[in-house]
Amino acid sequence: MAVCLVTGGAGFVGSHLVDALLMRGHQVRVLDNFSTGNLANLAGAWDQIELISGDLLDLELVREAMQGVELVFHQAGLASVPRSLADPPSTHHSCATGTLHVLMAARDAQVRRLIYAGSSSAYGNSALLPQREADPTQPLSPYAVAKFAGEQYCAAFTHIYGLETVRLRNFNVFGPRQSAGGPYAAVVPLFLEAMLAGRSPVIYGDGLQSRDFTYVDNVVQANLLAAEAPRVAGMFYNVAFGRSTSLLDLLDTINELLGTHLKPIYNSPRPGDVRHSHADISRAQIDLGYCPSIDLKQGLRLCIDSLLREREPSKSKNGVSKQRMPAPHRRPPVVSARAGATGTQRENVFGT
Ligand SMILES: NC(=O)c1ccc[n+]([C@@H]2O[C@H](COP(=O)([O-])OP(=O)(O)OC[C@H]3O[C@@H](n4cnc5c(N)ncnc54)[C@H](O)[C@@H]3O)[C@@H](O)[C@H]2O)c1
Repeated sequence: MAVCLVTGGAGFVGSHLVDALLMRGHQVRVLDNFSTGNLANLAGAWDQIELISGDLLDLELVREAMQGVELVFHQAGLASVPRSLADPPSTHHSCATGTLHVLMAARDAQVRRLIYAGSSSAYGNSALLPQREADPTQPLSPYAVAKFAGEQYCAAFTHIYGLETVRLRNFNVFGPRQSAGGPYAAVVPLFLEAMLAGRSPVIYGDGLQSRDFTYVDNVVQANLLAAEAPRVAGMFYNVAFGRSTSLLDLLDTINELLGTHLKPIYNSPRPGDVRHSHADISRAQIDLGYCPSIDLKQGLRLCIDSLLREREPSKSKNGVSKQRMPAPHRRPPVVSARAGATGTQRENVFGT
């Protein structure tokens, strides 16, 4: 059993990681500022974790959160290309400076290994498909630059300070709990929300742009493997399903699953979006033993089931009654962070 810190653990991917770590008997601490994360994402876990509500830019808080930690899964960051175009500094602060703080704290706390949530946006518009780790990088948006800066910081900390880092370049992750709200939502939850309501989804561009859609369980699997695999410190890996699907094909698949015949509404292409993404995942398969098990159609079916369950009248998100959800502490007592770290006492910040 390891003490694990999941930054961004109240977010979409982070909360799935939290569940998987708890299921394997690990002790889990979450650090999140709830800028895009949601306490409801931790509904099945909140009485088993230590939850620290705060920002990566608060270096002292990050250091506190790091006490006694063996493994860090660094998921926190503002994860949106359009948001980064509208407000580049906030993306830079959370993704680049935030990562630097996490690395400094992890180095000083002698963390065994840090797994970084990188992004396929590092490749930009690659001339060659599928994209391989050895391909040149060409980040096209402030988001891509900031995520890539985080990657480079990880590499430097491994090289200079010997901190074990493994960088995972995630390709278009989708799954339950991914937010469809706000102007910066991702394409799969936006399509699903619109189409479940009988509305046509919006496509920016001609719909022939393609993505390597990766179900969240596959990403969780890659993180768990990266935490334990031997001789991978300093390496980076594509994490994807390994198949490219156009947005028009995504629409067809959802129509098929829902029994609908909805057509898209076309809008102008968005700046900063890459045209195609398609990963070669052989390096992760060989080094990590990564084997994505859920494909796009299976994953979409799971998302639809989850959305329909959420809409059942007597239940709130994740099937938990709303009144059982506590408010997160702004900043937990240090004893809360230390209790988990020493293993002397397991205590959650809600005091339940
Ligand atoms: N979802 C994808 O398709 C995808 C693809 C590639 C990379 N990634 C990366 O994976 C990670 C998780 O993505 P996600 O889709 O779960 O996003 P998300 O927005 O659901 O989760 C990010 C979490 O980080 C928290 N956060 C943001 N800034 C913070 C800060 N400064 N301090 C503390 N917490 C902060 C948010 O509140 C949120 O809970 C991100 O780093 C993202 O860049 C995601």
